[in-house]
Amino acid sequence: MAFPKQVRLVEMSPRDGLQNEPGPVIATDIKTGLIDRLADCGLSHIEAASFVSPKWVPQMGDAAEVMAGITRKTGVQYSALTPNLKGFENALAANVDEVAVFGAASESFTRKNINCTIVESLERFGPVLEAARKNNIPVRGYVSTVLGCPYEGDIAPAQVASVAKALYEMGCYEISLGDTIGVGTPLKAKRMLEAVAAHVPMERLAAHFHDTYGQALANLYAVLEEGVSVIDASVAGLGGCPYAKGASGNVATEDVLYLLNGLGIETGVDLDKLVATGDWICGQLNRHNGSKVGQAMGGSC
Ligand code: HMG
Ligand code: MG
Repeated sequence: MAFPKQVRLVEMSPRDGLQNEPGPVIATDIKTGLIDRLADCGLSHIEAASFVSPKWVPQMGDAAEVMAGITRKTGVQYSALTPNLKGFENALAANVDEVAVFGAASESFTRKNINCTIVESLERFGPVLEAARKNNIPVRGYVSTVLGCPYEGDIAPAQVASVAKALYEMGCYEISLGDTIGVGTPLKAKRMLEAVAAHVPMERLAAHFHDTYGQALANLYAVLEEGVSVIDASVAGLGGCPYAKGASGNVATEDVLYLLNGLGIETGVDLDKLVATGDWICGQLNRHNGSKVGQAMGGSC
């Protein structure tokens, strides 16, 4: 299989990147400043916020203010997580372009993350999909723990495929496969992808790899070879999941872009601007820059 000619990067830093940031709640204008800078880099899809319970994820408690504060750029899809109908209604009121429901292939992780079983999670997503359809809002579906679970260990590819298929058949236009705790390796990633692609078309699949064990770029290379053309990433490698202790951020967008540029794959994203954005947000958060490319090309962090 040849590499795709183009890859769509889905930028995770305002949501996955910031949701787990320790310390006080990050000021709304830092979040909006990040999102506006990311749009200016040429990213066409930015996950901007999360309409979840603020008791569960305090960093995302100002989702409506974030959506109201950004400067919308034409051609950019601003999306948000919505675990249930309440989240969807709040997201709709905040004028998001797209929402995402998020399930997992592991029962224990589903319970810890969204407080229900896998079957119950799918039942909750039904009304979100229905309301989204009525309002012409596209819905993305996440499957977490696709290459391992912090509570259950190995996850069978067939289990990942079953949840991915259910989300796709419910109407999610794209299924993002999350290595939530970054434990995958390339062969495992390929096998998991093959199992899912037997039920969901490859062009409807996205790779969402965290980099805890430093394998994310290798795993991405492996799934690019299989035909995946949508990649989730987070500038400066920001992030982690509050319900997956020890998990580090998504693979850094700068590192993914450098890899894709080297392979001659088009993204429409400007690497210099992206590195500057990674530097800027690390300065704002007083945080180490988790991107190797950011460290090599950037300034202070
Ligand atoms: P629950 O406690 O079972 O829900 O939580 P509930 O329906 O019983 O409601 C409890 C309270 O939450 C009520 O308020 C509701 O109104 C409120 P109270 O009466 O106690 O004052 N509530 C809400 N408030 C705001 N927005 C909402 C909402 N829903 C209920 N949408 C719930 C269930 C799903 C809400 C909760 O478990 C939750 O918010 N979980 C979020 C977890 C989360 O955001 N995790 C991180 C994102 S997932 C991720 O990072 C993985 C991913 O990146 C992929 C990967 O890496 O694998 C996507
Ligand atoms: Mg994630």
